Amino acid sequence: MPEIIDGKAISAAVKEKAAKEVAKLKEQGIEVTLAVIIVGEDPASRVYVNNKKKACEQLGIISREYALPDTTTMEELLALIDRLNKDKAVNGILCQMPLPNGLNGKLVTDAIDPAKDVDAFHPVNVGKIMIGDYDFLPCTPAGVMELLKSTGVEISGKRAVVIGRSDIVGKPMAMLLLHANATVTICHSRTKNLPEICREADILVAAVGRADFVTADMVKDGAVVIDVGMNRPEGRKLCGDVAFCEVADKCSAITPVPGGVGPMTIAMLMKNTITAAKRQNGIN
Ligand code: GUN
Repeated sequence: MPEIIDGKAISAAVKEKAAKEVAKLKEQGIEVTLAVIIVGEDPASRVYVNNKKKACEQLGIISREYALPDTTTMEELLALIDRLNKDKAVNGILCQMPLPNGLNGKLVTDAIDPAKDVDAFHPVNVGKIMIGDYDFLPCTPAGVMELLKSTGVEISGKRAVVIGRSDIVGKPMAMLLLHANATVTICHSRTKNLPEICREADILVAAVGRADFVTADMVKDGAVVIDVGMNRPEGRKLCGDVAFCEVADKCSAITPVPGGVGPMTIAMLMKNTITAAKRQNGIN
């Protein structure tokens, strides 16, 4: 049986450490505050935002929610971000994506002050990640790195394959693995011989957005498999990108969905929010 990597337990440990930091900052008169913007009624976004709020409450971070109707204009949204950028009491700002049709997510990302950009989506922060000199960790990839660390697997010199090239997960994931000295390949929808490339991976990260995309024939014996997928196929429960049962038989460690990467993303967001508060108060 492979190791089932317990994202719930590992995220709880990260959050416990974070709660102590929040308490320490409070003693110094610093209240850590995260502003969360949600536009429209997307049910998945609502669940994610509720989970972020719950994590803030657990840790003693103040969360301010700005729930806007889907009739909100770009001008209104940018005016809110401008106000939050200038508000000294707000340390972190995130706008839950995707936005309803007609609103431009890129303009929103660009408008958030990079010093408060706890998602690390702003081009300035993306650039910093590229050169390995960053304050804010990209939340999901950073969570994956924590999970890998927990397995004790040596990353340096290993072959890592990331399936998916999104700006939020695939690309920054590849960068973090590269910074850890893995030899990294990014695969995507136009990749030829995808199963063959995946079979070379000591570490396989699936961030495709398709249920059961990664099958046993794509996995090397003894690989570590990380499933970033969050799919809700009709008539099925939440599932990842990896056909868990058949792949589990081949690998040495694997993340479940739910209970793998998901909880880590929020834990890393909390970490970034604390980092933002520290930097804004001149603490390293
Ligand atoms: N939508 C899906 N994942 C994320 C995330 O990590 N941050 C934001 N802001 N929106 C998302």
